[in-house]
Amino acid sequence: MPDLTGSPMVRPEAPLAHRLCRLGAGEVSRNFHALPLAGALRSMPDYWLQRFDFLRRPITATDVSYAYPALDSFFAPDGPLAEAQDSAARAFGAQAALFGSCGTTVSNRIVLDALGGFGAHALIDGASHQSIPFAAGGLGINSVVIDPLAVGGCKIPDLARIVKTLAAAHQSGRPFDLVVLTASSYDGYVVRMDEVLPQLIRASPRTAIMIDAAWGAIHSFSDALRPHTALTAIAELRETESLDLPPIVVTVSAHKSICSLRQGALILVANDADSLDSLKTAQFKHHTTSPSWPVLASVDLACAHAADLGAKGASRAINLRDRFVHIIQKDPLLRPLMPDDPDQFSSFRGLMQDPMKVAISLGPLGEPGLVRHNLYHEYATYVARCNGTGLLLHFTIGIDEADIDSLVAALREMVKRNCRMRPTPGDLAVGSIIEEYVVPYPPGIPIARPGDVWTNAHASDLSNEMALGAEIFRLPEPVLDRSLP
Ligand SMILES: Cc1ncc(COP(=O)(O)O)c(C=O)c1O
Repeated sequence: MPDLTGSPMVRPEAPLAHRLCRLGAGEVSRNFHALPLAGALRSMPDYWLQRFDFLRRPITATDVSYAYPALDSFFAPDGPLAEAQDSAARAFGAQAALFGSCGTTVSNRIVLDALGGFGAHALIDGASHQSIPFAAGGLGINSVVIDPLAVGGCKIPDLARIVKTLAAAHQSGRPFDLVVLTASSYDGYVVRMDEVLPQLIRASPRTAIMIDAAWGAIHSFSDALRPHTALTAIAELRETESLDLPPIVVTVSAHKSICSLRQGALILVANDADSLDSLKTAQFKHHTTSPSWPVLASVDLACAHAADLGAKGASRAINLRDRFVHIIQKDPLLRPLMPDDPDQFSSFRGLMQDPMKVAISLGPLGEPGLVRHNLYHEYATYVARCNGTGLLLHFTIGIDEADIDSLVAALREMVKRNCRMRPTPGDLAVGSIIEEYVVPYPPGIPIARPGDVWTNAHASDLSNEMALGAEIFRLPEPVLDRSLP
């Protein structure tokens, strides 16, 4: 387990460096957040391990300030960076790609400036990441933000209103210059672009479209998800319809789901290669002039790796997620963690559940604030997000079976600790209404369910099980609420 505490007695001069070193030197933690590169390396065949090897060598060898002629020009490449960007564009099915080493936060600013810019009218999906409204404000873009719908602890885009507002502006003769939509969220929904993109284009054919697909780089390589990405949807539209497509640009974080270093990012021109010049100008204005070559090289590697093994990796990750769901559903003690429908987002129009993510109920795990803390400090398990109702788990291509087994064991221990009854069941009065499942474990078959009236028969069952040595647990129903208000 990583030791993050350090000792105040030996506190070094550089506390952050000290902690990070200790963290890096510690046991690899189970990471259910953005892709852990060390995790992904575990399942790489030798020929890929060798290619990634340079990232594991001392950073001083490759973290250089070189530009042209030693390497390439970052802003006007015509050497290896240009080649790498071209091959990444081909891998994603885009017309062109620009690499970045400042994350999707800065990519979003670049695209907003290139497709919109000062004085433009933009329609913004209110479920977007903070980088979008902040950049739009800073760039002097006039934004109309469509409030998201609240679903449990999450926000989802109000797709119907976005389309309606676009259409109304177009019909009034003052179309929006730009519409911004988030394609897949931290919380685990994916927008079915094959369904939604044609609606946006028909509603306002001249409005440029920006898609933030920060979490979805791997989706372009997954058989299950590729049909729903913007890039595939556009290719289909080009083939099947005689629509005149507007400029469409997609931003992705390479570091969140494919094997790049942090801040590795891509801007993908999905339609209208002419917008590439505006994007390059905006990149020149907003990107750091000291790009990280190791990060850019890692984006190159990540794309090549995804093109070769991404489909296999994504399908394995989806299977692991399904296996995890199955284990939880089959274990009587853990079952209350899993909502009745683990694919909740699929019931919303235009959305689907990200099959690489699942949210489990927090109820049986204890107080929300403590859950993430305990998972990390006691079980070396890092989770993406813990809101009032759910714990979000992201099954990236950096996760393996051992991670799942260890997560299940940690959850089992936490549920036991949190739900174990006191030895005497005196608080279950005959005649009272039961609010939770009462479960002797083993065998894990509830002797009473929420809503049951507690009877002498229940009390006697309980005493028998206790006499036989079963542990007794009281477990709430799953509480993930994904219903619309
Ligand atoms: C939807 C979305 N867009 C953009 C970003 C920012 O990406 P980055 O961390 O690569 O700057 C995030 C980060 O979580 C995000 O969730």
